[in-house]
Amino acid sequence: MKLVKTLSIVGLAFAAQLSLAQTWPARTVTWIVPFAAGGPTDAMARDIAEKVGKQIGQTVIIENAAGAGGTIGATKAARAQPDGYTFLVGHMGYMGAGPSLYKKLNYDPVKSFEAVFRFPDTPLVLLVGPNSPYKSATDLIAAAKANPGKINFGHAGVGSTSHLIAALFASRANIDVTQVAYKGAAPAMNDLMGGQVDAMFDQSNTALPQVQGGRLKAIALTSLTPMPQQYPGVAPLAEKVLPGFEAATWYGLYAPLGTPKDVVQKMHQAYMKAMADKTWTQRMTGQGIHLLSDAQYAPDAFAKHTAAEVEKWRKVVADAKIEID
Ligand code: MLT
Repeated sequence: MKLVKTLSIVGLAFAAQLSLAQTWPARTVTWIVPFAAGGPTDAMARDIAEKVGKQIGQTVIIENAAGAGGTIGATKAARAQPDGYTFLVGHMGYMGAGPSLYKKLNYDPVKSFEAVFRFPDTPLVLLVGPNSPYKSATDLIAAAKANPGKINFGHAGVGSTSHLIAALFASRANIDVTQVAYKGAAPAMNDLMGGQVDAMFDQSNTALPQVQGGRLKAIALTSLTPMPQQYPGVAPLAEKVLPGFEAATWYGLYAPLGTPKDVVQKMHQAYMKAMADKTWTQRMTGQGIHLLSDAQYAPDAFAKHTAAEVEKWRKVVADAKIEID
């Protein structure tokens, strides 16, 4: 009797999942972006959400749930109903380095989520204010060596990429800088423009209009090769200052664990259809964004990538002695 009851409960749950997957998406879908609006994660998410929304025939809303380097929004997403209507836009920080940085994290990047698809990667740019005395990374490093702890780097929160890359940069350059946390790159960038902080690493896509508009100056790149189209005359850190230094932020979409596989597949297929639009993807490359192979965008490959990154960052965080919260 007990077995029959258990089997019917399992059967009902399976039927509910099946019917959910068949009718999905019947309403608006939400993607949680765990940073302030106007930053790189938000900009990229909105761009992709709009294109994917057209493919699935429903609006994809961006919900900004900022704070603690993305971990607040990630926790919210991990706890959401796995019904195919709430997703997380995740990145290298809170979904890769997070477990090594936070003593208590209320989600596991691998075990609490289904990986849906990976976005293209974005290299970073070392930025200073328009009136900064630092014309190059060499100038900045020399100033930091002469005044330990006096150069302030703005960043998007502990575990954000702007924090991680600044910490790696300081560790490789053997300098002591002060890191100042914000709820996203956009507010950090405002303070950089206002001169409240001295420097910041931001992703190429959102740094570009500020640099082109003369509101900020780019003094180095984290890509191995120069980006003459986007940042003419700006040298990669790897070129002379820090040989081998390379960084790019990876992003992607995750669903709470238990989201029907069919929904994950449909979302991934919609993304791949959107990515077939060359005019759009060329606009991304024009912002310095790196496209990946189709295989790298797939859910399985993205799940493996996430797991490998969590392991990678344990060593990177320990070796670079990145501050733990
Ligand atoms: C980061 O630095 O991790 C992101 O750029 C944060 C953001 O998108 O605001």
